[in-house]
Amino acid sequence: MKLKTLSLILLSALFIISCGGDKKDKTPVSKTEVKVETPSDPMQDKGIGPVKSITLGDLDQALADQGKEIFTLKCSACHKISKRVVGPALKGVTTRRSPEWIMNMILNPEGMVAENPIAKKLLAEYLAPMANQNLTHDEARAILEYFRTKE
Ligand code: HEC
Repeated sequence: MKLKTLSLILLSALFIISCGGDKKDKTPVSKTEVKVETPSDPMQDKGIGPVKSITLGDLDQALADQGKEIFTLKCSACHKISKRVVGPALKGVTTRRSPEWIMNMILNPEGMVAENPIAKKLLAEYLAPMANQNLTHDEARAILEYFRTKE
């Protein structure tokens, strides 16, 4: 009987020690800030899609002429150079968007309006999704050259 009482006391003592111990050793978890990468300069935004890096040389007028033809065929239903229609006016687009962004918008409009902050904003403003015209990389590059003549 005595032993039982003793062990009961011991058990309670243990219980109190384990629960009542001070919590000094529990240092608070420091909160590290997670920064979301949204470049404030739109010219640094390359967009999302197959085009990772483009280096522009001197204007290639023959390529620009090719681009104009493709633009007239595939884009002019929704875009004019100097006037907003279904989509934005494209005059000066090469001065407000990076070459990679422009080509990714042409080659991957669905991905762009879903994930790229600038394209998302445009969709919210224009309310019509830009259509994927299934162009090749070279066709998109030619249109980019044409846009360079419309700065
Ligand atoms: C069905 C209509 C439609 C067609 C066809 C279309 N676009 Fe667009 N485009 C849009 C709309 C609308 C936007 C604005 C973003 C959005 O709402 O998805 C846009 C946005 C753009 C932008 C971004 C403009 C800016 O101010 O940043 C570029 C560049 C562009 N289009 C180029 C083209 C090219 C090049 C073609 C042809 C290959 C083309 N688009 C075909 C409707 C169209």
